Amino acid sequence: CGIVGYIGNNDSKEILVKGLEKLEYRGYDSAGIAVMNADGVHVFKEKGRIADLRMVVDADVSANMGIGHTRWATHGVPSVVNAHPHQSTTERLTLVHNGVIENYELLKDEYLMDVALKSETDTEVVVQLIEVFMKEGLEVEEAFRKTLKLVHGSYAFALLDTETPDTIFVAKNKSPLLVGLGEGFNVVASDAMAMLQVTNQFVELMDKEMVIVKQNEVTIVTLEGETMNRAPFTAEIDASDIEKGTYAHYMLKEIDEQPLVTRKIIQEYRAEDGSLHVDEEIVAAMKESDRVYIVAAGTSYHAGLVGKQLIEKMAKIPVEVHIASEFGYNMPLLSEKPLFIFISQSGETADSRAVLVNVKAMGYKALTVTNVPGSTLSREADYTLLLHAGPEIAVASTKAYTAQIAVLSILAAVTAEARGFALEFDLTKELGIIANAMEALCDEKDEFEQIARDFLADTRNAFFIGRGIDYYVGLEGSLKLKEISYIQAEGFAGGELKHGTIALIEDGTPIIALATQESVNLSIRGNVKEVVARGANPCIISMKGLEMNGDTFVIPEVHELLTPLISVVPLQLISYYAALHRGCDVDKPRNLAKSVTVE
Ligand code: G6P
Repeated sequence: CGIVGYIGNNDSKEILVKGLEKLEYRGYDSAGIAVMNADGVHVFKEKGRIADLRMVVDADVSANMGIGHTRWATHGVPSVVNAHPHQSTTERLTLVHNGVIENYELLKDEYLMDVALKSETDTEVVVQLIEVFMKEGLEVEEAFRKTLKLVHGSYAFALLDTETPDTIFVAKNKSPLLVGLGEGFNVVASDAMAMLQVTNQFVELMDKEMVIVKQNEVTIVTLEGETMNRAPFTAEIDASDIEKGTYAHYMLKEIDEQPLVTRKIIQEYRAEDGSLHVDEEIVAAMKESDRVYIVAAGTSYHAGLVGKQLIEKMAKIPVEVHIASEFGYNMPLLSEKPLFIFISQSGETADSRAVLVNVKAMGYKALTVTNVPGSTLSREADYTLLLHAGPEIAVASTKAYTAQIAVLSILAAVTAEARGFALEFDLTKELGIIANAMEALCDEKDEFEQIARDFLADTRNAFFIGRGIDYYVGLEGSLKLKEISYIQAEGFAGGELKHGTIALIEDGTPIIALATQESVNLSIRGNVKEVVARGANPCIISMKGLEMNGDTFVIPEVHELLTPLISVVPLQLISYYAALHRGCDVDKPRNLAKSVTVE
């Protein structure tokens, strides 16, 4: 979910709605705004997208302050009733919330037995609780603070009180939240992107802080009542980076940006003498560790699997890769000197953050590889490596995946050298070749559109197979396809298919096989024959030098360790066109959110 707030001289409706549009990547199953003027509070909510909310906002209501919310449902189905903002019984208080209150049932039973709740949300419990404490005689700020001390979980809150018409009360714990500063106005937002339309000056908030936001004044206080001073920072995002330009979809734009991003990464990680460079502290931490633990979710987890190969093969340090939500509750036996690497496009994924908080408390060092400078995971880890990929807006991650792999390859190479293992190839040059190969692939869109038509037009399911590093790319290819086209797609290790999954192969079942690795070229082709014998329709994507008669597409030749950087491009494009042909909402697939800030 994402939240926004505005207090100033202008009409707030459009600023709030535009802000929510920029936050739609955080969830888009329902949305709402509440604006306040001399007549009181006006709440507008709608199920669906921000475009749907826009239709129900009354243009005749004018108000200089307000709050807004876009939702990714956790408690309660997407509906107008469950959409935020939520109000207290007297409607004096109005609240928006991003996060999850873990003890809301307990709070409800203890304090709200006499209150009739309107929704099924944890958020309504909070706003009612504040009102209960106000009825007992507390001022709104005190009642809010008392409530914050009782709630367990994650939150970014923005609260309106009809009796305090010059203030937005804000609080944060675990969920991201920024206050933006302007001339004669102030704003709040889950992400700077939402308010770049009005300011680029932001103040970072820490966990368990409250902020009293007025038109010309912002006061940060801890829950204990201590006032905090903090200088603003300038958000270095170019507003044009977050527009689609001439592209029909952000996803296609972001796929096309991959060559550029790869070149940018080479530039950003190159020292003056032309060699690749990573901060010495990070290299030292790699050198000191006896085992690296990569922790991530979704596409970033898939990049981590490739990262393991790169670090083990180049730097010769053992690596384990873990799904964040599993690691959090089921920690493996750790080595003596572990180093943790968190891979996260957004730097905000709650599952990953929960692990980071744990391992920091255990005294271990952590490195975050992220696209977002100043994100929670970046701030809280000891070190950060940036992806320099520019904002990624489409929910399905593309350029962040290749950027993660490129940055991990540089980390692996620099560590290898520091450990005295000379590489047999020049990584800078190889990454340059990769960027050119990516460009060549992006120029073949018609081919990939045709492949999507030939193999995926009417199918219910599809399988991706590969061996070694190709298997990991297959996992990512299957995730891309399923998340945007809703075709049931699974990635399998080529040799494992026959141990069960082959039972699902029927006449015409599409099998997308990757063959970019010389050492397993014959064996993966053997696996393809096994499924063809059972009726499968094989789409073979091989690499120049390893191609055979009948291959569907041959990608340019690149270094064998770096093939994921280009073999994924056809899979991204095939998924894009498959989703497009099916009439799916490519950039905003159902049920998903780009940044999941709940565990
Ligand atoms: C969400 C997105 C995925 C993404 C995952 C991890 O589930 O829909 O595309 O890979 O989160 O996100 P992160 O920002 O941590 O890389």
